[in-house]
Amino acid sequence: MKQMHGSGTFIDSRLANEKVAAKTGLANTRGKPDEVTGKLNALHYYQLSLPAPIPPAGSFDTTAAERGKQLFEGKAQCASCHVPPLFTEPGWNLHSASEIGVDSFQADRSPGEQKYRTAPLHGLFAHTKGGFYHDGRFATLDDVVEHYNTVKNLNLSDSDKKALVEFLKSL
Ligand code: HEC
Repeated sequence: MKQMHGSGTFIDSRLANEKVAAKTGLANTRGKPDEVTGKLNALHYYQLSLPAPIPPAGSFDTTAAERGKQLFEGKAQCASCHVPPLFTEPGWNLHSASEIGVDSFQADRSPGEQKYRTAPLHGLFAHTKGGFYHDGRFATLDDVVEHYNTVKNLNLSDSDKKALVEFLKSL
């Protein structure tokens, strides 16, 4: 694609929006020769074939994780959006900033929906750098759980929060 200094066709009319990227002129790129279009199906197939890494034995507390699972699907209401076993919504998986208790700065800059996508949660144990959420605002999983506890008034005890974090590490 042009963004990567290759040559090819790329069409996304959402980028023509003044607030998004109209200035870049990338909404309708027709590079000759087109070295992009013919490769997209295979690339997509490859992406879908990649399994999420599996947490190594001993990297989380199994008893706490089991309790965390109950909380995830019950009291903490996480599964209302992060539906197991995908851990995102099967279908429409976008939410407004207010639904997850954050500002809309990045959402407003995105083309189209101006919402955030429910992050799938597999392989979280391997995610040790850069923080969580779209801008890495939460340094640890404990911080993420604390955030939900506050904005959604979940009333989780300290041991509930710990159990939820162990469950997240088990995915
Ligand atoms: C209203 C839907 C909704 C509910 C309820 C919800 N989440 Fe989320 N979750 C999201 C969205 C949307 C994001 C992406 C936020 C972003 O990128 O800024 C997210 C992101 C996350 C992430 C960060 C993943 C990453 O790779 O950065 C974790 C961890 C997480 N949620 C765990 C939970 C837990 C635990 C609960 C329950 C206490 C929960 N979520 C409840 C919608 C939800």
